[in-house]
Amino acid sequence: MNKILVTGGLGFIGSHTVVELQNEGFEVVIIDDLSNSSIQVLDGITSITGKKPIFEKLDLKEKSKVEAFFKKYSDIKGVIHFAASKAVGESVQEPLLYYENNISTLVYLLKELKNMQEASFIFSSSCTVYGQADELPITENAPVKMAESPYGNTKQIGEEIISDTCKVLPNLKAIALRYFNPVGSHESANIGELPIGVPQNLVPFITQTAIGIREQLSVFGDDYPTPDGTCIRDYIHVVDLAKAHVIALKRLLENKNKSNFETFNLGTGTGSSVLEVIKSFEHVSGKKLNYKIVGRREGDVISAYADTSKANIDLGWKAALSLDDAMRSAWKWEQKVRKN
Ligand code: UD1
Repeated sequence: MNKILVTGGLGFIGSHTVVELQNEGFEVVIIDDLSNSSIQVLDGITSITGKKPIFEKLDLKEKSKVEAFFKKYSDIKGVIHFAASKAVGESVQEPLLYYENNISTLVYLLKELKNMQEASFIFSSSCTVYGQADELPITENAPVKMAESPYGNTKQIGEEIISDTCKVLPNLKAIALRYFNPVGSHESANIGELPIGVPQNLVPFITQTAIGIREQLSVFGDDYPTPDGTCIRDYIHVVDLAKAHVIALKRLLENKNKSNFETFNLGTGTGSSVLEVIKSFEHVSGKKLNYKIVGRREGDVISAYADTSKANIDLGWKAALSLDDAMRSAWKWEQKVRKN
């Protein structure tokens, strides 16, 4: 059984990916520093899969501990690297924190992979690398635009560091997965998104408003050049996203990759406006959402949705779940979390 390291494996996308890896028979070792996650997620994963993953509390910034970790787990065959800071606004205030958390740690990890006989590496990237793309839907060939924030920059630089390293380390193969907007939760509602403090992202803000923690959702602008005036995004169910990680990993483990560094868009291929997301939520929950239109949020792109042909053809992966499925699961999760 292949042993796979998942960094940030107790986070939102990480935990869902651990479930899918275990479902496919992989043995999982999770590293997480618990800075933006809870140890209870481990129980959530175990309750779904019936198997507790190995867990090591570890901060990837502590280089000597990372070295010791790889000595202890010398039989790791692949790494899925989620551990990173992800708040756009915070990254503008604290750029060095973001470069240290997201870049230094990546370098330390890659240095360890040097010693492995064969290393398969999956990197969490983001559609943020495209900025406001000139053409929609967005293909992987769309130019990478000047990053709008240090957070976005860490994704661009991260991809470059990995690509440069793949050129010189013959044992290393990597895939960067460019996520569009991950939403929803596992159907069991035993794991899900757990934002700390006031959510910055749309879907957790919607569910927290509906359950009464937030008074009202602010819709950031309805004067964009889109059919209903609100911004358009490609909301991808986190379970579909998690499955894509397993497929990408297998592609590398089975030497099916076309080059040593590949990038794939992960989205549904369909754009939805903010008002459409609200409508979907109201439809599946049967609740009316309290929202008001306010001014635009700085840094928002007007419209972003994926051309998923490359992932469809090369990975043989396609999103199977709908926006309604995602909203239904997000709502089920919110209700369960607040009960406990
Ligand atoms: C944001 C980040 C992106 C990052 C991603 C990670 C920005 C500008 N972009 O994407 O770089 O990779 O999160 O998850 O922060 N909205 C509202 N009201 C709200 C919250 C959001 O109207 O309270 C709208 C936004 O204007 C946007 C849409 O909902 O049109 C989605 O927003 P969000 O969930 O924050 O995701 P992105 O901005 O696409």
